[in-house]
Amino acid sequence: MITIKDTVPAFDLAAARKITGQLCLKPDSVIGLSTGRTTGGLHREAASIIAEEHIPMQNATFFGLDEVAGVPKEYSGACYTMLKDEIIDAIGVGEPDFLMLPTESDDFDRDCKAFTAELSRRGGIDLLILGLGENGHLGFNQPGTRFESTARLTNMHPELEARIRRELSLPQEHFLGGVTLGIKDIMRARRIVLVAKGAHKARIVRDILRGPVSTAVPGSILQLHPCCEFLLDAAAASLL
Ligand code: GLP
Repeated sequence: MITIKDTVPAFDLAAARKITGQLCLKPDSVIGLSTGRTTGGLHREAASIIAEEHIPMQNATFFGLDEVAGVPKEYSGACYTMLKDEIIDAIGVGEPDFLMLPTESDDFDRDCKAFTAELSRRGGIDLLILGLGENGHLGFNQPGTRFESTARLTNMHPELEARIRRELSLPQEHFLGGVTLGIKDIMRARRIVLVAKGAHKARIVRDILRGPVSTAVPGSILQLHPCCEFLLDAAAASLL
């Protein structure tokens, strides 16, 4: 299903309602969130609706799709800090029910396995709000990632890496990477809402929806998901 909203506020509201609607249906839902410029507004909108409308959320779990590896989690560009600032603290979700992949670890492989095992223990992902990279990436699953991939440590996009190095004055020898759910983990979510806004996303939105399903464009796999909604603003939908 494709939903197109004319304005950014209408887009944020519609996306926020996906989260609050899911909580109304099932207050103990397991809900995955993505960070970036697309999702900040919808997170803040969801937080206001949850407070104003007393949306039930007993035992809800919130988690992040991916995380920057090699930085402190308190860094403003870490997904942990972004999600805490945008929604988690405002809706009063405590650390035990806010699950994130680690920014720092002596064994990312072990932690990734523990993370997905914990999501399964809580019943699996009910709703996953997914951002989309301009090259079609989902989380840190860059073009070429196998569709069978699971949660793991991988590379980050060179542009993002350069920005973080600049912001934190990190030398080249300091390790940076991305930890992310894999494509297989993403496809296991019962329900997905892919969110994209802005004219810079128009080409990739067209490619993931109208192009072939191919590992060259990770987002194209969503054509095969049985319950994925594509929520777009008018600019992102302009080439459909
Ligand atoms: C980053 C994040 C993704 C996010 C994507 C889109 O790569 N790792 O989780 O979906 O950016 O970001 P934006 O919404 O800023 O375009």
